[in-house]
Amino acid sequence: MSEPLVLGRIENGIAHLTINREDKLNALNRAVLEQLHEAIDRAAHARDTRCVVITGAGQRAFAAGADIGEIRALAEDEVEAFIAYGHGLMNAIEDLGKPVIAAINGYALGGGCELALACTLRIASSNAKIGLPEVGLGLIPGYGGTQRLTRLAGRGRALHLMLTGEPVSAEKALEWGLVTMVVEPDELETATHKMAAKLAASAPLAMKAIMAAVNQGADLAMARGLDLEKQYFERVSQTSDMREGTSAFLEKSKPEFKGS
Ligand code: COA
Repeated sequence: MSEPLVLGRIENGIAHLTINREDKLNALNRAVLEQLHEAIDRAAHARDTRCVVITGAGQRAFAAGADIGEIRALAEDEVEAFIAYGHGLMNAIEDLGKPVIAAINGYALGGGCELALACTLRIASSNAKIGLPEVGLGLIPGYGGTQRLTRLAGRGRALHLMLTGEPVSAEKALEWGLVTMVVEPDELETATHKMAAKLAASAPLAMKAIMAAVNQGADLAMARGLDLEKQYFERVSQTSDMREGTSAFLEKSKPEFKGS
């Protein structure tokens, strides 16, 4: 049997997913996308999974894009489903309700960049190259890049990246807010694990509410966004986790959050 294209293991509440197509720089063909989607669905339903990490196999790439050969072969009546599938997967990651960390260990280009943008947090190795080079293929980003990059980095930087097609270094990505941490390549795994462990021990319902308020609020006017925040605050303020967290603070002990 051939090796899976997405390797998965769960350890201490963290689901580690590795795109396993190293010889093609982890390019996202249909089979990779399907296996990633299955893994994300499993993470959504597994109560003991508190955080997800996505990375690429090998030292060179997180993912060097959607599979160019597959795109080239798309018939006109297949394009809509191709885009819908990509959008569905990226939305599923963004709306998982559990934090998803992209550990960017090299090229994150095209669909690979869009995958990272759909994740909750992005940590890059200092040798990472991040960009949306589709214009060079006579294409445009199709897995959410035009929208997520613009919301994350602002219109000017998004247009710069998409129109030039030139990837940026990890350092520039940090400066532009595309990633929130840059570490040396040999520290990426440890740094990611440290962050994932922190999130896995944190309050699941509070994290879910924060991500929902931020994601849903991004498209709303301020007053409606604040209303949304109020609704989520009301919900979270009635949880056992809130009682656990506040009691632990007052008793100077460590909270144990159960997600209830
Ligand atoms: N789709 C399909 N195959 C891809 C790919 C992609 N997006 N990116 C890389 N590969 C394949 C290459 O075809 C090559 O396969 P081969 O060994 O069978 O020829 C293998 O991965 C290694 O890539 P290669 O181009 O030889 O490595 P490199 O070090 O010379 O260049 C990149 C690395 C990332 C600069 C280059 O691979 C690249 O530009 N990839 C495409 C990036 C892109 O446009 N992404 C957006 C797609 S919509």
